[in-house]
Amino acid sequence: MGPTRRVCIVGFGYGGIGCVRECLKEGLKPCCFEIQDGMCGLWRYKENNIEGCGSVMNCTRVLASKEFSTCSDILLSDNLPIYLHHSQVYKETVQHVEKMGLNKYVKFQHRVESVRKADDYQETGRWKVTVKDLQSEKVTEDIFDAVMICTGHHAYPNEPKFPDQEKFQGRVIHSLGYKTNAGYEGKRVVVVGGGNSAIDSAVDVSHVAKTISISNILGVICKFANFTRNKRPTEDTEIDFGFRR
Ligand SMILES: Cc1cc2nc3c(=O)[nH]c(=O)nc-3n(C[C@H](O)[C@H](O)[C@H](O)COP(=O)(O)OP(=O)(O)OC[C@H]3O[C@@H](n4cnc5c(N)ncnc54)[C@H](O)[C@@H]3O)c2cc1C
Ligand SMILES: NC(=O)c1ccc[n+]([C@@H]2O[C@H](COP(=O)([O-])OP(=O)(O)OC[C@H]3O[C@@H](n4cnc5c(N)ncnc54)[C@H](OP(=O)(O)O)[C@@H]3O)[C@@H](O)[C@H]2O)c1
Repeated sequence: MGPTRRVCIVGFGYGGIGCVRECLKEGLKPCCFEIQDGMCGLWRYKENNIEGCGSVMNCTRVLASKEFSTCSDILLSDNLPIYLHHSQVYKETVQHVEKMGLNKYVKFQHRVESVRKADDYQETGRWKVTVKDLQSEKVTEDIFDAVMICTGHHAYPNEPKFPDQEKFQGRVIHSLGYKTNAGYEGKRVVVVGGGNSAIDSAVDVSHVAKTISISNILGVICKFANFTRNKRPTEDTEIDFGFRR
């Protein structure tokens, strides 16, 4: 048998955590790099976003039950609610990752800057990875047999622009920047989009806002159940679904 093959894993959110675990099961040597100073990727709630990292909103709960959301080898306690709040997802994950010893294979506060073919790629198929230590600012290069990219896909907002938008006096937000409903008290709010982020933020803001309009292209509301599952909007909150606008 040849030497143990080294695998570079970029990111230690759920994707990265799973890859480290599977590499170890396969007898590979994982070496994971993570920008943040902790695990869980976007489930690590942040008051202030970090460039290149997604984040849940403070109101976020998982959209599937704990039985369906967990991994096959993790049994979640009966004492936990069926739909976990993000802080419970984070806490449970940290506990299990530490118990499995997966965090030993991660260098936190290290950003992968580039992944290129190694000079001997044609013969070996290896990759040259450049990494920056965000504390010391030191940049190093290393060679790996394989690279797994687990950087997520919710780190950069897609913010549509509408004609005359600059005339609008209110705030235009994106769910990536939406943390809590503080500051929306008594306001008229428009939520653009009908995905889970849109509905979660509409429900959250409905507790304090005067009116909410949901503007949606296709007229599909994914998560209407949230209106009943979470706290109901206050009685005097108007909710207007504006389809096909
Ligand atoms: C608000 C919200 C709620 C969601 N709820 C659910 C749900 O209930 N159920 C479900 O199944 N899915 C849900 N999702 C989908 C979500 O994408 C997955 O749950 C999952 O967390 C994604 O994990 P990931 O590892 O792919 O990405 P992320 O969690 O985004 O992790 C990527 C990691 O890579 C790191 N990184 C990025 N670039 C670099 C780099 N250059 N070098 C080193 N590290 C880097 C980041 O810091 C981050 O830690 C939700 C998504 C959002 C946005
Ligand atoms: N509680 C939870 O568990 C929770 C909460 C938030 C997010 N999530 C997850 O996170 C992921 C991302 O969800 P998301 O809701 O942020 O994104 P999404 O599912 O991609 O939804 C984006 C919404 O924006 C609309 N949209 C896009 N471009 C537009 C434009 N130019 N003008 C008007 N509307 C536009 C889309 O409309 P069309 O579909 O018609 O194009 C869609 O309704 C999903 O996996 C979701 O399940 C989960």
